Amino acid sequence: MESQKRHSGLIVASNRLPVALTRAEDGSYRIEPGSGGLVSALLPVLRDRGGTWVGWAGISGDVQNINALLEQATQQAGYQLKAVALTEDEQRKFYQGFSNEVIWPLFHDLQLLCDFDPSYWRVYQNVNRRYAEVLRQNSIDGDFIWVHDYHLINVALELRNLGAKVKTAFFLHTPFPPLDIFVKLPWRFQLLHALVEYDLIGFQTLRDQRNFIQCVRTLMKDVAVHGKGQMLTLRDSEREVHVGSFPIGIDFNAYVKRAASEEVTKRAADLRNMLPNRQLILGVDRLDYTKGIPQRLEAFRNALVRYPELHNRVTLIQVVVPSREDIPQYNDLKTRIERLVGEINGQFTQPGGWVPIHYVFRSLDTVDLLAYYRAAEIALVTPLKDGMNLVAKEYCACSIEEECVLILSEFAGAAAQLQRGALLVNPYDIEGVADTIHRAYTMGNTERRAAMRHLRRTIREQDIFWWVDSFLRAAIAKDLSAFPLPEDYVPRNDIGGMSL
Ligand code: UDP
Ligand code: G6P
Repeated sequence: MESQKRHSGLIVASNRLPVALTRAEDGSYRIEPGSGGLVSALLPVLRDRGGTWVGWAGISGDVQNINALLEQATQQAGYQLKAVALTEDEQRKFYQGFSNEVIWPLFHDLQLLCDFDPSYWRVYQNVNRRYAEVLRQNSIDGDFIWVHDYHLINVALELRNLGAKVKTAFFLHTPFPPLDIFVKLPWRFQLLHALVEYDLIGFQTLRDQRNFIQCVRTLMKDVAVHGKGQMLTLRDSEREVHVGSFPIGIDFNAYVKRAASEEVTKRAADLRNMLPNRQLILGVDRLDYTKGIPQRLEAFRNALVRYPELHNRVTLIQVVVPSREDIPQYNDLKTRIERLVGEINGQFTQPGGWVPIHYVFRSLDTVDLLAYYRAAEIALVTPLKDGMNLVAKEYCACSIEEECVLILSEFAGAAAQLQRGALLVNPYDIEGVADTIHRAYTMGNTERRAAMRHLRRTIREQDIFWWVDSFLRAAIAKDLSAFPLPEDYVPRNDIGGMSL
């Protein structure tokens, strides 16, 4: 059974594996869980279905050695991990450089933050080739290779160059930008051509799909677009490519179960007891300029200035998870956030009493994260732009009493699914967000429950297993017939074990 699961014909590739290896000073290795939405979302899928996950293990070094450590770490897991070895220079130019200083800011509409260094592009191509080689070594003809995210756009092209006879699909976890922004990219043609090498391309929302199609129509004159709505087909003289939107979900049942556990319930109660007689407002984000943290802090300050009745009655808990620390803009952002938190606390703190913002800068373990989710009455999720935003969904899943409020940016992919039930805001509108904080604070339990019920129903019905089923069904329906799904295949909704 275990070995069957490991060779299920499904091979997933992403820049990051779900674990990161680190080397201690004494030369020993530590294995830590990876962070971010991609890892949180895909892990339950691999646990449920089995298969192979190819990615970077967090360190450079001898790949056989790394694979042996990964093998040890996943002995009971039902899936296997295979490492791609990258040198430090490759990691810098491919991951920090092209992925996170070119595509990440550009795809989030922040072209002024891009560094279009031509050497980044060359290394990006080389590293994508390396991923393709490892995928080739770990697959057989007819396997289904599912590539995730912007780091690996060139992989299908490289697999084809290597002569691999596999079916390929790509899912973009980030937004896809509008034409006016995409055309700024010096390698716009190369990247579009690389994308249409996949057999199926998936986006988070219809808006991303439309943006992509507009780029194809404008920049690829020999490609025709057929169909309407959620599934479209691109055709040139040789091939057909299918394009759809598939909003990613979470393992809802697992979150509910874990949030209701004794240890989380106790930790949440401890938190509430430490901060009594007030409503807790929660923000949880990776340290990233797309998350709108400074704008959120300004909005909170504005709410405290304009609504003095909030003094002593609300506390903002802002959790910031360290991320991409070697990129200068991320470090600058940290300084900016810390200055703002200091300023706002300096402005309003009452000696010996109320401190308006509790700032946490570290990665949380699951129990702490879920305890924050459970303890907070209001979640403030206000990215300037986000592919989906899983924190919003996880927060609602953990709100098991349903007496909580989700304030959500219009520019998070999640807004498309959660607009009924969430209080939508424009994160750039400081006063608008401040008014919404006040509105959430004054909302009664009946209204809160009705809204939260809608949100939770949507998140439960469109969970991570629904997402993977929708994606794979699209792959099958479009005749990716080599992927060995059983004839009587039905969507699954059970969780096949805890995923947290
Ligand atoms: N998360 C984490 N460590 C933490 C806090 C949160 O790994 O200390 C997880 C969180 O549970 C969520 C993910 O990080 O699954 C963040 O995903 P999201 O889609 O909100 O944003 P991303 O970081 O992927 O841009
Ligand atoms: C986003 C990206 C993922 C990435 C995650 C964490 O969710 O879409 O591909 O893994 O952020 O970022 P990191 O750079 O630490 O992998």
